[in-house]
Amino acid sequence: MTVVINMREGLDWKKIKIGARFIREGKLVAFPTETVYGLGADALNENAVKRIFKAKGRPPDNPLIIHIAEFEQVYELASEVPEKAKILAEKFWPGPLTIVLPKGDKVPYATTGGLETVAIRMPANEIALGLIKASERPIAAPSANISGKPSPTLAEHVVDDFYGKIECIIDGGETKVGVESTVIDLTTDPPMLLRPGGLPLEEIEAVIGKVEIHPAVKGKPVNLAKAPGMKYKHYAPDAQVIVIEGERERVKEKINELIKRYKAQGMRVGVMATGDFYKADAYFNMGESEEEIARNLFKALRELDKSGVDIILAEGIEERGLGLAVMNRLRKAAGYRVIKV
Ligand code: TXA
Ligand code: MG
Repeated sequence: MTVVINMREGLDWKKIKIGARFIREGKLVAFPTETVYGLGADALNENAVKRIFKAKGRPPDNPLIIHIAEFEQVYELASEVPEKAKILAEKFWPGPLTIVLPKGDKVPYATTGGLETVAIRMPANEIALGLIKASERPIAAPSANISGKPSPTLAEHVVDDFYGKIECIIDGGETKVGVESTVIDLTTDPPMLLRPGGLPLEEIEAVIGKVEIHPAVKGKPVNLAKAPGMKYKHYAPDAQVIVIEGERERVKEKINELIKRYKAQGMRVGVMATGDFYKADAYFNMGESEEEIARNLFKALRELDKSGVDIILAEGIEERGLGLAVMNRLRKAAGYRVIKV
């Protein structure tokens, strides 16, 4: 019942038409973007969109991002397009940036989770762009994971979560960025960062000036209607994640101490490292640069979970560049269990 289309060699127009037909019929198609895999449906078809929420087990008030392939589509989806939206789109689209604008009449409330605003992005992935063009529809797509689980960076992750539950999965290989898009609200002045992501905040501020950071980005989730996605549990594997932050050598010492302590309690311990080696039951080295760590983050969470560990100890990194997005995801995955050394 699920058609898996292999497009690892790149966009194939004949094959993409199969996915596009499903989208036009109101069905669900998972597809790669440069950030993570998305679970797509026709953004303007209320019933199709409702199926996304059902398949993911997603709360209906958590709105979806609409994916477009041409800038002009923004005018079909938003009632106002401020100058800053044009400037950001010109500079960063296609790319890992989502902008929030006032909702246009055509967009069903099912897509925006009942909000009067709409989130839009143009992904930098030829398969995603091809699917949008071939279906001639804007495509609403959350990350293609069961709600609360780590986002998928490989088609295998999507298969794990949705095989047999959706009509089509397009396999485009591993996603390049690995964390979701940066979400910025342009309906306020100054604009507000709602979710750090694949486009560093520093790059956005260099173009449009000061951006406020929503308090939930760094801290505990707060119950604010503006950023509904932030109040839910996220990225959590079955194992308990604990983040250890601080000066590198002390983090290393602390993790080694915790490995011993938990093993003495009979637990199986996994480590998500950023370069250093650890002797644990399971070990995943995410790499040393922010880019590598971002790319490997969700895969590490999923693989360590599959290895059956009880505890995952994760090294924190600095919150600059992509580090802001990485630490936001890690802390959420840990349910905010953070040890500072
Ligand atoms: O990179 C990405 O953005 C991926 C790929 C598939 O494009 N998509 C993604 O979607 O991460 P999702 O649904 O997992 O996350 C969408 C985020 C949520 O935090 C949601 O609350 C927020 O965007 N969002 C969507 N519409 C919004 C709106 N109108 N106002 C405020 N936040 C919104
Ligand atoms: Mg998501």
